Amino acid sequence: MPATVILGSQWGDEGKGKLVDRLAEQATWVVRFQGGNNAGHTVVLGEQVLKFHLLPSGITRKECNLILGDGMVIDPWVLDHELVNWNESSGEDPRGERLFISERAHIILPYHRYMDSLDKKIGTTGRGIGPTYADKINRIGLRFGDLAEVNGDLQWASSSSERMNASLEAAGSLERITADSLLEDVKWICDSFSTSITHTGLMLDNALKLGENVILEGAQGCLLDIDQGTFPYVTSSVTSRGNSTHGAGIHPGHVDEVIGITKAYITRVGNGAMPTELFDEVGNHLGTVGQEFGTTTGRKRRCGWFDAVVMRHAHRINGFTGLALTKLDVLGGLDEINICVAYELDGKEVREMPSSASALARCKPIYVTVPGFPSHSLSEWLGIAKKANKDGTGFKALPAAAQHYIKQLEVLVGVPCTSVGVGPDRDATIDSAE
Ligand code: IMP
Repeated sequence: MPATVILGSQWGDEGKGKLVDRLAEQATWVVRFQGGNNAGHTVVLGEQVLKFHLLPSGITRKECNLILGDGMVIDPWVLDHELVNWNESSGEDPRGERLFISERAHIILPYHRYMDSLDKKIGTTGRGIGPTYADKINRIGLRFGDLAEVNGDLQWASSSSERMNASLEAAGSLERITADSLLEDVKWICDSFSTSITHTGLMLDNALKLGENVILEGAQGCLLDIDQGTFPYVTSSVTSRGNSTHGAGIHPGHVDEVIGITKAYITRVGNGAMPTELFDEVGNHLGTVGQEFGTTTGRKRRCGWFDAVVMRHAHRINGFTGLALTKLDVLGGLDEINICVAYELDGKEVREMPSSASALARCKPIYVTVPGFPSHSLSEWLGIAKKANKDGTGFKALPAAAQHYIKQLEVLVGVPCTSVGVGPDRDATIDSAE
Protein backbone atom coordinates (compact mmCIF):
# COMPACT_ATOMS: atom_id res chain seq x y z
CA MET A 1 0.00 0.00 0.00
CA PRO A 2 1.26 3.49 -0.73
CA ALA A 3 1.46 6.44 1.64
CA THR A 4 -1.32 8.99 2.12
CA VAL A 5 -0.49 12.59 2.97
CA ILE A 6 -2.81 14.70 5.14
CA LEU A 7 -2.11 18.43 4.98
CA GLY A 8 -3.57 21.65 6.31
CA SER A 9 -4.41 23.85 3.33
CA GLN A 10 -5.00 27.15 5.13
CA TRP A 11 -3.26 28.65 8.21
CA GLY A 12 -3.41 25.51 10.37
CA ASP A 13 -6.08 24.25 12.79
CA GLU A 14 -8.17 22.78 9.96
CA GLY A 15 -8.94 19.58 11.89
CA LYS A 16 -6.15 17.28 10.69
CA GLY A 17 -6.14 15.32 13.96
CA LYS A 18 -9.73 14.22 13.54
CA LEU A 19 -9.21 13.00 9.97
CA VAL A 20 -5.95 11.21 10.79
CA ASP A 21 -7.67 9.56 13.74
CA ARG A 22 -10.38 8.24 11.39
CA LEU A 23 -8.00 7.10 8.65
CA ALA A 24 -5.64 5.52 11.17
CA GLU A 25 -8.17 2.75 11.57
CA GLN A 26 -6.80 1.32 8.30
CA ALA A 27 -3.17 2.38 8.79
CA THR A 28 -0.22 0.63 10.35
CA TRP A 29 1.90 3.77 10.65
CA VAL A 30 1.17 7.43 11.36
CA VAL A 31 4.13 9.74 10.86
CA ARG A 32 4.77 13.38 11.78
CA PHE A 33 7.35 14.79 9.38
CA GLN A 34 7.84 18.47 10.34
CA GLY A 35 7.11 21.02 13.05
CA GLY A 36 6.93 20.24 16.73
CA ASN A 37 4.66 21.06 19.63
CA ASN A 38 3.54 24.27 17.97
CA ALA A 39 0.88 21.95 16.53
CA GLY A 40 -2.21 21.01 18.48
CA HIS A 41 -4.47 18.13 17.50
CA THR A 42 -7.78 17.40 19.17
CA VAL A 43 -9.51 14.05 18.96
CA VAL A 44 -13.00 13.64 20.45
CA LEU A 45 -14.05 10.10 21.41
CA GLY A 46 -17.56 10.38 22.86
CA GLU A 47 -17.12 12.17 26.21
CA GLN A 48 -13.33 12.00 26.04
CA VAL A 49 -11.41 14.96 24.53
CA LEU A 50 -7.76 14.16 23.79
CA LYS A 51 -5.28 16.92 22.93
CA PHE A 52 -1.90 16.14 21.40
CA HIS A 53 0.97 18.36 20.35
CA LEU A 54 3.62 15.82 19.45
CA LEU A 55 2.13 12.35 19.56
CA PRO A 56 0.69 11.53 16.13
CA SER A 57 -3.11 11.36 16.08
CA GLY A 58 -3.00 7.58 15.39
CA ILE A 59 -2.12 7.07 19.08
CA THR A 60 -5.75 6.18 19.82
CA ARG A 61 -5.54 3.12 17.52
CA LYS A 62 -3.58 0.55 19.50
CA GLU A 63 -2.37 -1.37 16.45
CA CYS A 64 -0.93 1.76 14.82
CA ASN A 65 2.81 2.50 14.97
CA LEU A 66 3.80 6.12 15.56
CA ILE A 67 6.80 7.96 14.17
CA LEU A 68 8.23 11.34 15.02
CA GLY A 69 10.16 11.84 11.82
CA ASP A 70 13.48 13.28 10.60
CA GLY A 71 12.12 16.74 9.80
CA MET A 72 10.67 17.41 13.25
CA VAL A 73 11.87 19.53 16.16
CA ILE A 74 10.87 17.84 19.42
CA ASP A 75 10.62 19.16 22.95
CA PRO A 76 11.35 16.06 25.08
CA TRP A 77 9.67 17.53 28.18
CA VAL A 78 6.42 18.09 26.29
CA LEU A 79 6.63 14.59 24.82
CA ASP A 80 7.18 13.16 28.29
CA HIS A 81 4.16 15.09 29.60
CA GLU A 82 1.95 13.76 26.79
CA LEU A 83 3.16 10.23 27.42
CA VAL A 84 2.38 10.52 31.14
CA ASN A 85 -1.15 11.75 30.29
CA TRP A 86 -1.61 8.99 27.74
CA ASN A 87 -0.38 6.41 30.25
CA GLU A 88 -2.89 7.69 32.82
CA SER A 89 -5.82 7.34 30.42
CA SER A 90 -4.77 4.12 28.63
CA GLY A 91 -2.26 2.35 30.87
CA GLU A 92 0.14 2.13 27.91
CA ASP A 93 3.77 3.25 27.54
CA PRO A 94 4.35 3.08 23.75
CA ARG A 95 8.07 4.06 23.86
CA GLY A 96 10.13 1.58 21.88
CA GLU A 97 7.01 -0.60 21.43
CA ARG A 98 5.13 1.43 18.84
CA LEU A 99 6.45 4.97 19.29
CA PHE A 100 9.73 5.70 17.51
CA ILE A 101 11.75 8.92 17.32
CA SER A 102 14.01 9.63 14.37
CA GLU A 103 17.69 9.88 15.19
CA ARG A 104 17.74 12.81 12.74
CA ALA A 105 15.03 14.85 14.53
CA HIS A 106 16.30 17.94 16.35
CA ILE A 107 15.85 18.59 20.06
CA ILE A 108 14.19 21.69 21.51
CA LEU A 109 16.15 22.70 24.62
CA PRO A 110 15.30 25.35 27.25
CA TYR A 111 17.64 27.73 25.37
CA HIS A 112 15.40 27.57 22.28
CA ARG A 113 12.29 28.33 24.35
CA TYR A 114 14.01 31.33 25.97
CA MET A 115 14.99 32.68 22.56
CA ASP A 116 11.48 32.18 21.16
CA SER A 117 9.90 33.94 24.14
CA LEU A 118 11.55 37.15 22.88
CA ASP A 119 9.46 37.16 19.68
CA LYS A 120 7.41 40.32 19.31
CA LYS A 121 6.86 40.34 15.57
CA ILE A 122 5.45 37.04 14.30
CA GLY A 123 3.21 35.98 17.17
CA THR A 124 4.86 32.56 17.44
CA THR A 125 3.58 29.87 19.76
CA GLY A 126 6.67 30.50 21.93
CA ARG A 127 7.56 26.80 21.95
CA GLY A 128 11.13 27.21 20.64
CA ILE A 129 10.35 26.04 17.12
CA GLY A 130 12.08 28.81 15.10
CA PRO A 131 15.30 28.91 17.18
CA THR A 132 15.62 25.10 16.97
CA TYR A 133 15.23 25.13 13.18
CA ALA A 134 17.71 28.06 13.07
CA ASP A 135 20.29 25.91 14.91
CA LYS A 136 19.60 23.08 12.48
CA ILE A 137 20.21 25.33 9.48
CA ASN A 138 23.33 26.73 11.18
CA ARG A 139 24.43 23.11 11.67
CA ILE A 140 24.87 23.47 15.42
CA GLY A 141 21.62 21.85 16.60
CA LEU A 142 21.45 18.73 18.73
CA ARG A 143 19.78 15.64 17.22
CA PHE A 144 18.36 12.64 19.06
CA GLY A 145 20.85 10.37 17.34
CA ASP A 146 23.78 12.43 18.66
CA LEU A 147 22.67 12.42 22.29
CA ALA A 148 24.65 9.38 23.37
CA GLU A 149 27.85 10.96 22.05
CA VAL A 150 27.51 14.18 24.07
CA ASN A 151 26.08 12.56 27.21
CA GLY A 152 28.55 13.35 30.03
CA ASP A 153 30.84 15.42 27.76
CA LEU A 154 31.70 18.49 29.86
CA GLN A 155 33.75 20.10 27.11
CA TRP A 156 30.78 19.97 24.72
CA ALA A 157 28.43 21.28 27.43
CA SER A 158 30.75 24.19 28.32
CA SER A 159 31.22 25.37 24.76
CA SER A 160 27.53 24.89 23.93
CA SER A 161 26.31 26.77 27.01
CA GLU A 162 28.79 29.60 26.29
CA ARG A 163 27.47 29.92 22.75
CA MET A 164 23.86 29.84 23.98
CA ASN A 165 24.52 32.47 26.65
CA ALA A 166 26.22 34.78 24.15
CA SER A 167 23.12 34.54 21.92
CA LEU A 168 20.76 35.08 24.86
CA GLU A 169 22.71 38.13 26.00
CA ALA A 170 22.88 39.59 22.49
CA ALA A 171 19.11 39.11 22.11
CA GLY A 172 18.44 40.90 25.42
CA SER A 173 17.35 37.87 27.46
CA LEU A 174 18.23 37.59 31.14
CA GLU A 175 18.04 33.78 31.05
CA ARG A 176 21.27 31.77 31.15
CA ILE A 177 22.23 28.13 30.58
CA THR A 178 24.87 26.36 32.70
CA ALA A 179 27.02 23.49 31.48
CA ASP A 180 25.72 21.40 34.39
CA SER A 181 22.06 21.98 33.54
CA LEU A 182 22.75 21.14 29.90
CA LEU A 183 24.43 17.87 30.91
CA GLU A 184 21.56 17.02 33.26
CA ASP A 185 19.08 17.66 30.45
CA VAL A 186 20.99 15.47 28.01
CA LYS A 187 21.20 12.65 30.55
CA TRP A 188 17.47 12.85 31.30
CA ILE A 189 16.56 12.84 27.59
CA CYS A 190 18.83 9.82 27.00
CA ASP A 191 17.36 7.96 29.98
CA SER A 192 13.79 8.78 28.96
CA PHE A 193 13.85 8.11 25.23
CA SER A 194 16.82 5.93 24.24
CA THR A 195 14.55 2.90 23.64
CA SER A 196 12.59 4.86 20.99
CA ILE A 197 15.41 6.55 19.06
CA THR A 198 16.07 4.76 15.78
CA HIS A 199 16.40 4.90 11.98
CA THR A 200 12.71 5.63 11.35
CA GLY A 201 13.08 6.28 7.60
CA LEU A 202 14.34 2.73 7.15
CA MET A 203 11.47 1.32 9.22
CA LEU A 204 8.98 3.14 6.99
CA ASP A 205 10.67 2.09 3.78
CA ASN A 206 10.51 -1.54 4.92
CA ALA A 207 6.87 -1.18 5.95
CA LEU A 208 5.96 0.29 2.55
CA LYS A 209 7.80 -2.53 0.78
CA LEU A 210 5.70 -4.97 2.79
CA GLY A 211 2.56 -3.22 1.53
CA GLU A 212 1.66 -1.58 4.83
CA ASN A 213 -0.44 1.56 4.95
CA VAL A 214 1.34 4.77 6.02
CA ILE A 215 -0.22 8.14 6.85
CA LEU A 216 2.01 11.20 6.72
CA GLU A 217 0.40 13.70 9.09
CA GLY A 218 1.14 17.34 8.38
CA ALA A 219 1.21 20.06 11.01
CA GLN A 220 0.29 23.75 10.58
CA GLY A 221 -0.91 24.58 7.05
CA CYS A 222 0.19 25.59 3.56
CA LEU A 223 -0.01 29.32 4.29
CA LEU A 224 2.38 28.86 7.23
CA ASP A 225 5.01 27.16 5.03
CA ILE A 226 8.41 28.86 5.30
CA ASP A 227 8.76 29.03 1.48
CA GLN A 228 5.19 29.03 0.17
CA GLY A 229 3.35 30.76 3.00
CA THR A 230 2.72 34.36 3.97
CA PHE A 231 6.36 35.09 4.86
CA PRO A 232 7.53 36.34 7.34
CA TYR A 233 4.34 35.47 9.28
CA VAL A 234 4.91 31.74 8.93
CA THR A 235 6.37 28.84 10.85
CA SER A 236 9.96 27.68 10.30
CA SER A 237 9.39 24.44 8.41
CA VAL A 238 8.19 23.27 5.00
CA THR A 239 4.64 22.22 5.79
CA SER A 240 3.81 21.04 2.28
CA ARG A 241 3.63 17.77 0.33
CA GLY A 242 7.21 18.17 -0.94
CA ASN A 243 8.49 17.73 2.60
CA SER A 244 6.10 15.00 3.68
CA THR A 245 8.25 12.18 2.36
CA HIS A 246 11.58 14.01 2.73
CA GLY A 247 10.85 14.78 6.39
CA ALA A 248 9.83 11.16 6.92
CA GLY A 249 12.98 9.74 5.28
CA ILE A 250 11.29 8.05 2.30
CA HIS A 251 10.98 8.96 -1.39
CA PRO A 252 8.05 10.88 -2.97
CA GLY A 253 7.12 7.98 -5.26
CA HIS A 254 5.45 6.24 -2.31
CA VAL A 255 2.61 8.77 -2.17
CA ASP A 256 -0.61 8.40 -4.10
CA GLU A 257 -3.25 10.33 -2.16
CA VAL A 258 -2.87 13.86 -0.82
CA ILE A 259 -5.81 15.13 1.18
CA GLY A 260 -6.04 18.87 1.82
CA ILE A 261 -7.95 19.63 5.00
CA THR A 262 -9.88 22.85 4.86
CA LYS A 263 -12.37 24.47 7.14
CA ALA A 264 -15.66 25.57 5.57
CA TYR A 265 -14.46 29.08 6.53
CA ILE A 266 -10.97 30.23 7.46
CA THR A 267 -9.05 30.97 10.66
CA ARG A 268 -5.62 32.23 11.61
CA VAL A 269 -3.69 32.70 14.87
CA GLY A 270 -0.68 34.97 15.21
CA ASN A 271 0.11 37.99 13.07
CA GLY A 272 -0.03 38.57 9.32
CA ALA A 273 -2.70 39.49 6.78
CA MET A 274 -5.83 37.45 6.18
CA PRO A 275 -7.89 39.17 3.46
CA THR A 276 -11.29 37.66 4.37
CA GLU A 277 -10.98 38.33 8.11
CA LEU A 278 -14.29 39.40 9.66
CA PHE A 279 -14.66 41.91 12.48
CA ASP A 280 -18.46 41.75 12.66
CA GLU A 281 -21.28 39.58 13.97
CA VAL A 282 -20.51 36.81 11.45
CA GLY A 283 -16.89 36.71 12.66
CA ASN A 284 -18.20 36.40 16.24
CA HIS A 285 -20.58 33.64 15.14
CA LEU A 286 -17.74 31.63 13.54
CA GLY A 287 -15.46 32.11 16.57
CA THR A 288 -18.14 31.25 19.13
CA VAL A 289 -19.97 28.40 17.39
CA GLY A 290 -16.70 26.99 16.03
CA GLN A 291 -14.97 27.39 19.45
CA GLU A 292 -12.03 28.97 17.70
CA PHE A 293 -9.37 29.01 20.40
CA GLY A 294 -5.89 27.59 19.79
CA THR A 295 -5.23 24.07 21.14
CA THR A 296 -1.61 24.98 21.85
CA THR A 297 -1.71 28.52 23.23
CA GLY A 298 -5.44 29.07 23.92
CA ARG A 299 -5.28 32.23 21.79
CA LYS A 300 -8.46 33.41 20.08
CA ARG A 301 -8.35 32.54 16.38
CA ARG A 302 -9.14 35.20 13.80
CA CYS A 303 -12.08 34.09 11.61
CA GLY A 304 -13.13 34.87 8.03
CA TRP A 305 -14.96 33.63 4.94
CA PHE A 306 -13.61 30.74 2.84
CA ASP A 307 -10.91 32.04 0.54
CA ALA A 308 -10.62 30.25 -2.83
CA VAL A 309 -7.48 32.27 -3.71
CA VAL A 310 -5.72 30.73 -0.69
CA MET A 311 -7.03 27.29 -1.61
CA ARG A 312 -5.94 27.47 -5.25
CA HIS A 313 -2.47 28.46 -4.04
CA ALA A 314 -2.45 25.49 -1.64
CA HIS A 315 -3.59 23.14 -4.43
CA ARG A 316 -0.87 24.37 -6.80
CA ILE A 317 1.80 23.64 -4.18
CA ASN A 318 0.40 20.34 -2.96
CA GLY A 319 -1.57 18.76 -5.82
CA PHE A 320 -4.45 17.63 -3.64
CA THR A 321 -6.28 14.53 -4.80
CA GLY A 322 -9.17 15.32 -2.47
CA LEU A 323 -10.41 17.94 -0.03
CA ALA A 324 -11.67 17.11 3.45
CA LEU A 325 -14.00 19.94 4.37
CA THR A 326 -14.37 20.43 8.13
CA LYS A 327 -16.74 22.35 10.41
CA LEU A 328 -19.50 22.87 7.85
CA ASP A 329 -21.98 22.78 10.75
CA VAL A 330 -20.51 26.07 12.06
CA LEU A 331 -21.96 27.95 9.07
CA GLY A 332 -25.47 26.73 9.99
CA GLY A 333 -27.81 29.59 10.90
CA LEU A 334 -26.20 32.21 8.64
CA ASP A 335 -28.64 33.71 6.09
CA GLU A 336 -25.98 34.09 3.41
CA ILE A 337 -22.47 32.79 2.96
CA ASN A 338 -19.67 34.61 1.14
CA ILE A 339 -16.88 32.90 -0.78
CA CYS A 340 -13.81 34.92 -1.75
CA VAL A 341 -12.98 34.28 -5.43
CA ALA A 342 -10.35 36.97 -6.09
CA TYR A 343 -8.77 40.06 -4.51
CA GLU A 344 -8.73 43.70 -5.43
CA LEU A 345 -5.15 44.94 -5.09
CA ASP A 346 -4.41 48.63 -5.69
CA GLY A 347 -7.49 48.96 -7.93
CA LYS A 348 -6.81 45.80 -9.98
CA GLU A 349 -8.37 42.35 -9.73
CA VAL A 350 -5.86 39.62 -8.87
CA ARG A 351 -6.56 35.90 -8.76
CA GLU A 352 -3.27 34.77 -7.18
CA MET A 353 -1.82 35.52 -3.74
CA PRO A 354 0.88 38.19 -3.83
CA SER A 355 4.14 37.04 -2.21
CA SER A 356 4.70 40.28 -0.33
CA ALA A 357 3.17 40.61 3.14
CA SER A 358 2.36 44.31 2.63
CA ALA A 359 0.66 43.64 -0.72
CA LEU A 360 -1.41 40.86 0.85
CA ALA A 361 -2.41 43.28 3.61
CA ARG A 362 -3.76 45.67 0.92
CA CYS A 363 -5.83 42.94 -0.77
CA LYS A 364 -9.58 43.35 -0.49
CA PRO A 365 -11.72 40.24 -1.01
CA ILE A 366 -14.09 39.94 -3.98
CA TYR A 367 -16.99 37.72 -2.98
CA VAL A 368 -19.72 35.62 -4.50
CA THR A 369 -22.68 35.09 -2.17
CA VAL A 370 -24.63 31.87 -1.80
CA PRO A 371 -27.67 31.07 0.39
CA GLY A 372 -27.12 29.84 3.95
CA PHE A 373 -28.67 26.78 5.62
CA PRO A 374 -30.30 26.19 9.03
CA SER A 375 -28.41 25.47 12.22
CA HIS A 376 -28.69 22.14 14.06
CA SER A 377 -27.51 20.92 17.43
CA LEU A 378 -24.29 18.87 17.47
CA SER A 379 -26.26 15.70 18.21
CA GLU A 380 -28.55 16.39 15.24
CA TRP A 381 -25.53 16.86 12.95
CA LEU A 382 -24.00 13.66 14.35
CA GLY A 383 -27.27 11.84 13.56
CA ILE A 384 -27.26 13.20 9.99
CA ALA A 385 -23.64 12.04 9.49
CA LYS A 386 -24.21 8.58 10.92
CA LYS A 387 -27.31 8.04 8.80
CA ALA A 388 -25.61 9.35 5.64
CA ASN A 389 -22.70 6.94 6.07
CA LYS A 390 -24.98 4.02 6.94
CA ASP A 391 -27.25 4.63 3.92
CA GLY A 392 -24.36 5.60 1.62
CA THR A 393 -26.12 8.81 0.56
CA GLY A 394 -23.04 10.99 0.97
CA PHE A 395 -23.57 14.76 0.91
CA LYS A 396 -27.17 14.34 -0.29
CA ALA A 397 -28.05 13.97 3.39
CA LEU A 398 -27.18 17.64 3.86
CA PRO A 399 -29.54 20.61 3.32
CA ALA A 400 -29.71 21.62 -0.37
CA ALA A 401 -27.97 24.96 0.29
CA ALA A 402 -25.09 23.16 2.04
CA GLN A 403 -24.72 20.81 -0.93
CA HIS A 404 -24.67 23.83 -3.24
CA TYR A 405 -21.97 25.46 -1.10
CA ILE A 406 -19.78 22.33 -1.25
CA LYS A 407 -20.19 22.14 -5.05
CA GLN A 408 -19.13 25.81 -5.38
CA LEU A 409 -15.96 25.17 -3.37
CA GLU A 410 -15.12 22.08 -5.42
CA VAL A 411 -15.49 24.02 -8.67
CA LEU A 412 -13.54 27.07 -7.43
CA VAL A 413 -10.62 25.03 -6.09
CA GLY A 414 -10.77 22.34 -8.77
CA VAL A 415 -10.62 19.40 -6.35
CA PRO A 416 -13.44 17.06 -5.24
CA CYS A 417 -14.48 16.87 -1.57
CA THR A 418 -13.90 13.40 -0.17
CA SER A 419 -15.51 14.09 3.21
CA VAL A 420 -17.39 16.79 5.08
CA GLY A 421 -17.16 17.30 8.84
CA VAL A 422 -20.28 18.42 10.71
CA GLY A 423 -19.13 18.27 14.34
CA PRO A 424 -16.19 17.42 16.57
CA ASP A 425 -17.09 13.77 17.20
CA ARG A 426 -15.07 11.04 15.45
CA ASP A 427 -18.27 9.90 13.67
CA ALA A 428 -19.52 13.37 12.70
CA THR A 429 -17.96 13.16 9.23
CA ILE A 430 -19.84 12.34 6.04
CA ASP A 431 -17.93 10.43 3.37
CA SER A 432 -18.51 11.27 -0.25
CA ALA A 433 -20.73 8.77 -2.04
CA GLU A 434 -18.87 9.38 -5.33
P1 IMP B 1 5.86 29.09 15.44
O1 IMP B 1 5.53 27.91 14.59
O2 IMP B 1 5.62 28.85 16.91
O3 IMP B 1 7.21 29.65 15.14
O4 IMP B 1 4.81 30.26 15.05
C1 IMP B 1 4.84 30.90 13.78
C2 IMP B 1 3.43 31.21 13.29
O5 IMP B 1 2.76 30.00 12.98
C3 IMP B 1 2.55 31.92 14.33
O6 IMP B 1 1.67 32.79 13.63
C4 IMP B 1 1.75 30.78 14.95
O7 IMP B 1 0.51 31.23 15.47
C5 IMP B 1 1.54 29.91 13.73
N1 IMP B 1 1.36 28.49 14.07
C6 IMP B 1 2.30 27.59 14.40
N2 IMP B 1 1.77 26.39 14.60
C7 IMP B 1 0.45 26.50 14.36
C8 IMP B 1 -0.63 25.56 14.37
O8 IMP B 1 -0.49 24.36 14.61
N3 IMP B 1 -1.85 26.09 14.04
C9 IMP B 1 -2.04 27.38 13.73
N4 IMP B 1 -1.06 28.29 13.70
C10 IMP B 1 0.19 27.84 14.02
